[in-house]
Amino acid sequence: MAVKLSIIYYSATGTVDAMARRAAQTAEKQGAEVRLRHVAEIAPQEAIEQQDAWVAHRTEMEGEPVATPEDLTWADAVLIGTPTRFGSAASQLQAFIDTLGPVWQAGELADKVYAGFVASQTRHGGQESTLLSLYTNVIHWGGIIVAPGYTDELKFVDGNPYGAGKVTGETTELGQPDVAAIDHLATRVLDVAGKLAS
Ligand SMILES: Cc1cc2nc3c(=O)[nH]c(=O)nc-3n(C[C@H](O)[C@H](O)[C@H](O)COP(=O)(O)O)c2cc1C
Repeated sequence: MAVKLSIIYYSATGTVDAMARRAAQTAEKQGAEVRLRHVAEIAPQEAIEQQDAWVAHRTEMEGEPVATPEDLTWADAVLIGTPTRFGSAASQLQAFIDTLGPVWQAGELADKVYAGFVASQTRHGGQESTLLSLYTNVIHWGGIIVAPGYTDELKFVDGNPYGAGKVTGETTELGQPDVAAIDHLATRVLDVAGKLAS
């Protein structure tokens, strides 16, 4: 049976979106059934219009499927992605998480594998605290956090045992260490979810 993986994320200007797409591609190559779902934009139009990259990304995302609670209940494993916002998750992602009360109450978020990915402008700009803020939700759901740790040599290069993290200060393009960290995270999550299923 293929592992069912949902990738639930928010991206304003495209970095976390690129990370999510890479994770989806890698998971599909490994035989997983994947749902790639961004959460709904809730920022005011005036705020979006102040940044060309935000406007451009919103245009790119038109028609792409938006996350629903059922995308989590369906999945065996969930990757959650967000840009850092002052050291925490984006409010758009948090607003989606705030709709999960009924499925949480029904116990439908428990016993799944979860891991997080993040983008920040600066290296010490809050990636770890953002990932921990995501994992706080997972603890409340009774989910199984599968952090990458230093389970592969490549984690000594990106230096983030909490999840996969992209630093966008120099370039927003995903480089080799970024891609390696995302691939490792997706692979590890599928591996553990597959073992749990069997
Ligand atoms: C309101 C706001 C707060 C932010 N806070 C931080 C921060 O605390 N640390 C940091 O390094 N970057 C911060 N950033 C930068 C974003 O996290 C960064 O640009 C991220 O890569 C954007 O991802 P996206 O392209 O997927 O939207 C902030 C950006 C905004 C708009």
